[in-house]
Amino acid sequence: GKVALTGIKPTGEVHLGNLVGAIRPALRLAEQYDSLYFIADYHALTTIRDAELLRHYSRSVAASWLAAGLDPERTTFYVQSDVPEIFELSWVLSCVTGKGLMNRAHAYKAARDRNVETGEEPDAGVNMGLYNYPVLMAADILIMETDVVPVGKDQAQHVEYAADIAGSFNHLFGDRYTFKIPQGFIPESGTGDVLPGLDGRKMSKSYDNTIPLFLPENKLKKLVRRIPTDSTPVEAPKDPDSSAPFQILRQFAPASAADVVADTRKRLEAGGMGWGELKNVLFEVLNDELAPMRERYNAYMEPGSELDDVLARGAERARERASRVLSGVRKAVGAR
Ligand code: TYM
Repeated sequence: GKVALTGIKPTGEVHLGNLVGAIRPALRLAEQYDSLYFIADYHALTTIRDAELLRHYSRSVAASWLAAGLDPERTTFYVQSDVPEIFELSWVLSCVTGKGLMNRAHAYKAARDRNVETGEEPDAGVNMGLYNYPVLMAADILIMETDVVPVGKDQAQHVEYAADIAGSFNHLFGDRYTFKIPQGFIPESGTGDVLPGLDGRKMSKSYDNTIPLFLPENKLKKLVRRIPTDSTPVEAPKDPDSSAPFQILRQFAPASAADVVADTRKRLEAGGMGWGELKNVLFEVLNDELAPMRERYNAYMEPGSELDDVLARGAERARERASRVLSGVRKAVGAR
């Protein structure tokens, strides 16, 4: 069958943007595709330099997937660093990847632009891990013979790079080994490209503006109150789609809350519903959906839970698959 693959980088707790942009679409795809979902811990190493913390976030991301409904019998579910074949492939791919392509990668370019703006050396604080990030991500994808990659819009370029890199390899070695060309599967939800965070920008661990999925209820309520809104008075008609809390509501709400979303939209447009009330509605919808997941998450996070066994079994399955592809690649390029 067709193969779906995606990963989350354990640089913090999983947040609403991850759930809406990646986890939910991935779980839906898992019903029809052969699915492989993983924790990209070596990607996180470009920024996290604390072993305990990296291990904590890796378990936390894994527990979040399971709490959200991932079935480890159906999905091959693993931690990237348990599959050394990926890193070997990453080297081979780096040898067929133009440096210019990496120069144009969004994350690297953003780091350079920030440095230039502040008068620093252009590459200050940029390590080779950050620079090579897209090549490692291509290895993640290509080594599993992936057809589709469910990701949020912010990762679209990385998936295109993986397709480009596969093309370069196929051009050079295609008579001996051919990679499948992967495609992004990017949920487009109305006007919102990505889920906004607590400052109105894209919700992102690197902006420190996230709403983590499994906060205690009272903390969740407090964060929802912090989502920015303008000063339109309660009585005035409002444009729901340009407000962050409504965008979060619309993108997050499960099908069972569709009526609540439609009704809230009408009331905002008509005037008479204030931002405070909108936030109460948002909190209720979030909490109804997240409360049962929160309980499962806490159980998986207990020391000695089945989490570690699940990941060990996943690693075995992932390595089996990865080593098949890698041995084809090794032959094709002339490794011993
Ligand atoms: P990461 O960990 O930043 O994000 C994980 C997934 O969540 C999506 N996402 C969002 N979607 C909508 N709105 C948002 N505000 C939002 N924030 C995050 C991301 O698009 C992503 O799908 N490089 C990847 C991890 C990775 C990977 C891979 C993904 C490593 N190897 C191979 C797919 C295939 C990353 O940093 O995602």
